Amino acid sequence: MPAISASACAKLILLGEHAVVYGEPALAVPFSGLRARAAVEAWIGAPSGRIHIFARDLDLDQEWSLLPENNLVRNALTLVLTELGIERLPTCKLNLTTEIPISSGLGASAALAVALMRAFSAFLGHPLDSERLNALAFESETLIHGRPSGIDNTVVVYEQPILFSKASGFEVIRSTDDFHLLVADSGVKKATALTVSQLAQDYSENPENIGAIIREIGSLTQAGVRALRMGDQPALGDALNRNQELLTLLNLSCPELDTLISAARQAGALGAKLTGGGKGGHMLALTAPDQLERVRNALLKAGARSVYHTVLKQEAANA
Ligand code: PMV
Repeated sequence: MPAISASACAKLILLGEHAVVYGEPALAVPFSGLRARAAVEAWIGAPSGRIHIFARDLDLDQEWSLLPENNLVRNALTLVLTELGIERLPTCKLNLTTEIPISSGLGASAALAVALMRAFSAFLGHPLDSERLNALAFESETLIHGRPSGIDNTVVVYEQPILFSKASGFEVIRSTDDFHLLVADSGVKKATALTVSQLAQDYSENPENIGAIIREIGSLTQAGVRALRMGDQPALGDALNRNQELLTLLNLSCPELDTLISAARQAGALGAKLTGGGKGGHMLALTAPDQLERVRNALLKAGARSVYHTVLKQEAANA
């Protein structure tokens, strides 16, 4: 029997990270060029009920029952088995890889869980539809991050640009122009759970100021959605820049990100900000096509570990 394979994309939050945890809207787009992949195959001849995990990027080469409590792979498999009501474990080998850097603001944990649950449920003969997959991916994110908004799993499962809020769920956003983004790695790893809990602490100590900043971020997200719909590149750039100022006030940036963000702006980016959990990880820069080379070089010169180019396509957004 051939292996059953599945994949899931990385994601970029254009506007609204962290504020989305407090009920504000946020705008996220799929980053389809970077993916996590899972393959599951029957393990002929092995004792029944054995599931072997091989995940080079996560440093795993072991029996799933020996995985530590609250391990992402263990959680994802358990969630699928419980959802499908399967008590007898299948005997199989599972291979998991990711091109998405971990703890870097690109949604790696959601993508790994989604790829794994897609492949495993299909292997079990009951592929999960998007709605059920999204609900399970949210549970997986909750086990890993504690208090996720749900934006990461949603954009990763549906692989469309979305406006998301905890109260209203998601709406697919159609843009009327191609928006080019450069995405650069600051080289600093930071777990999202840490930045989310740091902000929660600050919020409880200073609810008025932090609350006002969070609400302004919500308005910027709405401005960004209008800009995408109207194909207004400068307006989106302005929203990104202001969002970065507010994230800095929330103490969510760091010197390495600041250096990359100002290098991108000086080289001609229309707007630049951190993306995801912050305090490290990746930044993004909205850049006109004729400035891409210049901004990419400036980012590399300013210390970016890697620079990716992705396009939020008019056609894709209209799909
Ligand atoms: O760092 P990432 O890719 O996990 O993105 C986190 C986004 C936050 O808004 C900070 C948290 C959340 O759950 O929405």
